[in-house]
Amino acid sequence: MTIPTPIPMLNLIEIHKFYDRLEVLKGVSMEVKKGELVTFVGPSGCGKTTLLRIIGGFTNLDSGEVILDGQRIDHLPPNLRDTRICFQNYALFPHMTVADNIGYGLKIKKWKKNKIQERVEELLKLVQLEGLGSRMIDKLSGGQQQRVALARALSLEPKVLLLDEPLSNLDANLRLTMRGEIRKLQERLKITTIFVTHDQFEAMSISDRIVVMKEGVIQQVGSPIEIYERPSNEFIASFVGFVNFLEGVVERVDIGLNKATASTPIGVVQFVPERNINVGEKVKLVIRPETIQISQSEPTGMNNIFQGEVEIGMYVGSLAKYTVMINGEKFIIDQPNPRETFFKPKEKVYLSIPENIHLLIKTEIHQ
Ligand SMILES: Nc1ncnc2c1ncn2[C@@H]1O[C@H](COP(=O)(O)OP(=O)(O)OP(=O)(O)O)[C@@H](O)[C@H]1O
Ligand SMILES: [Mg+2]
Repeated sequence: MTIPTPIPMLNLIEIHKFYDRLEVLKGVSMEVKKGELVTFVGPSGCGKTTLLRIIGGFTNLDSGEVILDGQRIDHLPPNLRDTRICFQNYALFPHMTVADNIGYGLKIKKWKKNKIQERVEELLKLVQLEGLGSRMIDKLSGGQQQRVALARALSLEPKVLLLDEPLSNLDANLRLTMRGEIRKLQERLKITTIFVTHDQFEAMSISDRIVVMKEGVIQQVGSPIEIYERPSNEFIASFVGFVNFLEGVVERVDIGLNKATASTPIGVVQFVPERNINVGEKVKLVIRPETIQISQSEPTGMNNIFQGEVEIGMYVGSLAKYTVMINGEKFIIDQPNPRETFFKPKEKVYLSIPENIHLLIKTEIHQ
């Protein structure tokens, strides 16, 4: 017996979009499951907003399909699609009050006045704007306007919610709270959500899956852990968090013992091969700053210990950030809880590099 696979809530098939001769989406395909929160990240201009606008019906695609809950919708105007968008530039109605902006969609859907009022109050509370319902939009700060736009997008419960950097204008604390609120609400209502952000930590903390885009092409789709721990190329590795790259040539592979070594500019590095690699192959080791241990005395009984010299040490409270030079190679290290042992420039230190290292092979290395 075959178990039927549920149809995805949103299916993007080979979407292409040109602006004049510039191809800004180059065949984007992706499935989003019901109730999933998927975040798109990527450098400015890579096509995130364009893709969201195409899903919402505010921009036409040149070829490809948008399928919502099994039905093709790319020929429909925005008001006939069961999607809601929170625009990057808010796109609020300036001549209306906060409450009228938030309740606009409900009015169009012919909700009763008292129901609209109730819902608007609920949403005002959610975005922490209680008491501001009768204020005109142009009398609000940028961050407040952004929250109105978010509340407006949340007013109806669409099949797909599209949020284009909905928190970018908020201060750090509010951003953190709102992020948590969006996730809670999204999980409670099981609204399929596409979220766009520039903030990789936001993406990591809020998403079921992350999509990394570059120049109109999806580079990788995966859980936050997959994207962070096993980026599939150099661009992704350096886009999510800081990373130390160490070039090497595979020297030995012992499949039985699940061990391998690579010769690198700092010496021989042992590692657990996470994939098939061959002796003589050029690789790039991907080493995150927080996985390297730094110490004054030489650790015993461990592999991958290298001596280096501190170049810069920055105490930032919860951790210390160092650059350490080993044989002309620069390493960035994050040391948690540095209170007891904060190393100064020119100090000799030992670095311990883990053996569980993600590595990139030739085709994944930026040439
Ligand atoms: N209306 C338009 N006319 C012409 N070119 C456009 C238009 N809208 C966007 N572009 C171009 O399409 C590309 C993708 O833009 P888009 O707004 O989708 O990027 P983005 O990933 O959302 O960037 P950001 O992170 O800065 O918001 C850019 O090169 C942009 O200049
Ligand atoms: Mg954008």
